Amino acid sequence: MSPAHPNEALEQLRRECLECRRCGLAETRNSVVFGEGDPKAKLVVIGEGPGADEDQSGRPFVGRSGQLLTKILASIGFRREEVFICNIVKCRPPSNRNPMRDEIEACLPWLERQLGLIGPKAVLLLGKVAANTILRNTLPLGAMRGKAWRWEGRDCFVTYHPAALLRNPNWKRGCWEDVQQLRRHYDTITGTEANRENEKEQSAS
Ligand code: URA
Repeated sequence: MSPAHPNEALEQLRRECLECRRCGLAETRNSVVFGEGDPKAKLVVIGEGPGADEDQSGRPFVGRSGQLLTKILASIGFRREEVFICNIVKCRPPSNRNPMRDEIEACLPWLERQLGLIGPKAVLLLGKVAANTILRNTLPLGAMRGKAWRWEGRDCFVTYHPAALLRNPNWKRGCWEDVQQLRRHYDTITGTEANRENEKEQSAS
């Protein structure tokens, strides 16, 4: 029977995903990291795959990269709970290696179903693996930053992966510019700007 409520549908998908054995990562994982956040989020953030902390906790972006991601989101006025955060692959690749092509292809249907249920207007892709996978290209990261990419009815923005920023703090400025651009675009396509103006007018009258 199909669930009556979209939150319930996402929860049902999560339960199904937790049992997944579609690729070899199932052999070595401790947890399936499905993702978390607002099931109706207008912004979805997609990373590469869980690291050790995420594999232990079952939650995305909770380690050092996650702490930085939380700050990046806060810098453009988003709390973690109001977006949805997930990854290209739901299980940790051993020793934090990049996910392999067959692992990505096996896992993508979960992400596609997640996005279908959440229905975001905008997507933030963190790093080259996430961006190349979703945009179906092999471009370097630099060629993908700085513009909106249209993908299945959603506007995608690309920036550095927080782990890369931890290794190269001088890239933070570029990331900040990328997310500012995302925020402006998000406000325009979701009408947030207009709402904020209305709120201001109402509180002034
Ligand atoms: N890096 C990722 O790409 N995803 C996580 O969830 C954590 C670290």
